[in-house]
Amino acid sequence: MKLIKEIKEQKELIQTQGRIIKKRDLGKIFFLELSDFTGSIQVVVEKPELLTKLQDLHPETIISLSALVKKSPSDKPELHAQSLEIISAVEEVPDLELQSKEIKENLDTQLKHRAIGLRHKKNKAIFKVQAKILEAYREFMTNLGCTEIFTPLLLASSSEGGAEIFHVDYFEKQATLAQSAQLYKQIMVGVFDRVFGLSKCFRAELSNTRRHLTEGSQLEFEFGYIEGLETILKHEEAALRHILKKVYKDCQVEMQTLKAQELMVPKETFPTYSFKEACQVLTEKFNIDTLEWDDLSTEAEKLLCQYARETYKSDFIFITHIPKGAFYAFRDDNGIIHNVDLLCKEMEISSGGRRIDDYDQLRMSIMAAGMDPKDFSEYLSIFKFGMPAHGGFGLGLERLTMLICNQDNIRQTTLFPSDPKRVASQQL
Ligand code: 4AD
Ligand code: MG
Repeated sequence: MKLIKEIKEQKELIQTQGRIIKKRDLGKIFFLELSDFTGSIQVVVEKPELLTKLQDLHPETIISLSALVKKSPSDKPELHAQSLEIISAVEEVPDLELQSKEIKENLDTQLKHRAIGLRHKKNKAIFKVQAKILEAYREFMTNLGCTEIFTPLLLASSSEGGAEIFHVDYFEKQATLAQSAQLYKQIMVGVFDRVFGLSKCFRAELSNTRRHLTEGSQLEFEFGYIEGLETILKHEEAALRHILKKVYKDCQVEMQTLKAQELMVPKETFPTYSFKEACQVLTEKFNIDTLEWDDLSTEAEKLLCQYARETYKSDFIFITHIPKGAFYAFRDDNGIIHNVDLLCKEMEISSGGRRIDDYDQLRMSIMAAGMDPKDFSEYLSIFKFGMPAHGGFGLGLERLTMLICNQDNIRQTTLFPSDPKRVASQQL
């Protein structure tokens, strides 16, 4: 059996198999577009006994055939079927149109039939790009000396604080779903110094927006012996530059299919503004009153991205020292938090920062957040046994994919999205 990309003109019959993507019925002759993961090829079917076999079949049918390879009028190899076997017959029309250039159905309908809809060329392009992002991230992090880790998703208590926690029945007891890999990636810095991973995060947030999921994925990074927040910014920026370079080099066809323009990356380092400086920009340039703010609003994020694009020709901007910080975020003697959000194009795509590395401070911070240090005893124990200055970030994989692929809804860049109305793409 030959893969489609291996098919070249030759004298002997070749055997191949694949999925019929298109069928053109001209009566005494059929033209099929046959595809496998390596590409697609035109098949000409003229023999009457083969035509009868195909008569009532629809695209998506799986066939195997033996054929002669000839040159098509457009100078590409073309198959002329000599015998043909139906491996998996499709006798009905799917609920979604898979052959159309653009996806025609609205998002609700698309998600209702997600399993089939993912076969559309545009959806395949999105998830090819996503896979490339992951490949590039793994490559970058491995080269940096980071060890890849998988952290638990079933937890006894909170990992980020706040109320956005899913509780699950766990035999006679209750467990929670991880809000992030935060505590475990810190624990693993105590083991390997430098770690990274791809982790799921579950957020019980009633946010029906185009950028929120209840089950998301984060590109995680945690790094020991940092010199300060700058170390995190430096590695995060380099990781993103590496991802973009690889995607734009290896996914040109997909980017064209998606009509996605390259994100703007400045020649110099990404613009970096402290929260205070960002608020000044918002007030001076956009006339926004930020006096009471401890975090950026969605609108403010959008405006700061616009500002970065106009001023620095950059789709990326770091905002540091945001007053609203997680319980594990490091505060200096002036009470300033050493954290950072990365904004891209219009929204936050990652959060990160230096972490508290002092046992007593961390214990107090947990209590100040209204939580019980007893629930964190395993995590807290590492700070009694030597922890270097450390920090990292969590970067939303679906949001990054959405911005690279020029999609306007995060559900389009999640294979089987969960949100307040759906679980794994199916409406509740
Ligand atoms: O900003 P978040 O909540 O930060 C953390 O989880 C920290 N543990 C990160 C760290 O290392 N300090 O989440 C990080 C990123 C967000 O910027 C966003 O891109 C994505 O994860 N994210 C979500 N994406 C979609 N839907 C949601 N509900 C998301 N929550 C977070
Ligand atoms: Mg955040």
